[in-house]
Amino acid sequence: MKVLAIAGSPRRQGNTDLLLAELLKGAASKGAEVEAVFLQNLKFSTCVHCDSCLKEGKCRIQDDMQKIYDKLAEADVIVLASPVQFAGITAPLKAMIDRCQCLWARKYVLKIPPLSPMKNRRGFFLSVSGTRLKNMFEPSLAVVKTLFHVINVDYAGELLVSGVDEKGAILKHPEALQQAFQWGQKLAEGTARQGG
Ligand SMILES: Cc1cc2nc3c(=O)[nH]c(=O)nc-3n(C[C@H](O)[C@H](O)[C@H](O)COP(=O)(O)O)c2cc1C
Repeated sequence: MKVLAIAGSPRRQGNTDLLLAELLKGAASKGAEVEAVFLQNLKFSTCVHCDSCLKEGKCRIQDDMQKIYDKLAEADVIVLASPVQFAGITAPLKAMIDRCQCLWARKYVLKIPPLSPMKNRRGFFLSVSGTRLKNMFEPSLAVVKTLFHVINVDYAGELLVSGVDEKGAILKHPEALQQAFQWGQKLAEGTARQGG
């Protein structure tokens, strides 16, 4: 059981990273092999809409995204983590998702599996927002769910924490940290389902 976490916050060791670390601890406690990729540490371009992938089924841009494609294919569980920035996911995570256009092309144009080998993969979304404004997570959820749908990953749930702003503020929310740990356990056990 491989759990791949992709962390999209530009602020390393911030609230998203801390929450994600708990989730991964929970998954590891149930025997999962866990890996976190911090997009801030990678160098990759945005999608340039060159359409090469429509013919080739892969992205021609040779940069750190190539490692991500391999990791997505190996994973059984994919956790995307991002704070809310201007009501959506962060720019690095959006850029990573846009580079998955080649996986869209595989599925919808070339009619081949987006991720190979084929597996029953599950996906999870973790996010924090500085405000407590209603519906603040909706745009992020729409993007993340679209990616999971395109790459044939079953949506297993989400953990969304509002009102967490300064660096480390999540540490004042032990219940959220505990929920993250428990979600990690459930994801590793294969018992995580949408809705809890
Ligand atoms: C560029 C930027 C834009 C932000 N936009 C929003 C926003 O639209 N809504 C909101 O509730 N919080 C917003 N925030 C606050 C962050 O969501 C909040 O500080 C969060 O805890 C950061 O998580 P991190 O420590 O994992 O980076 C924004 C923060 C930044 C830096």
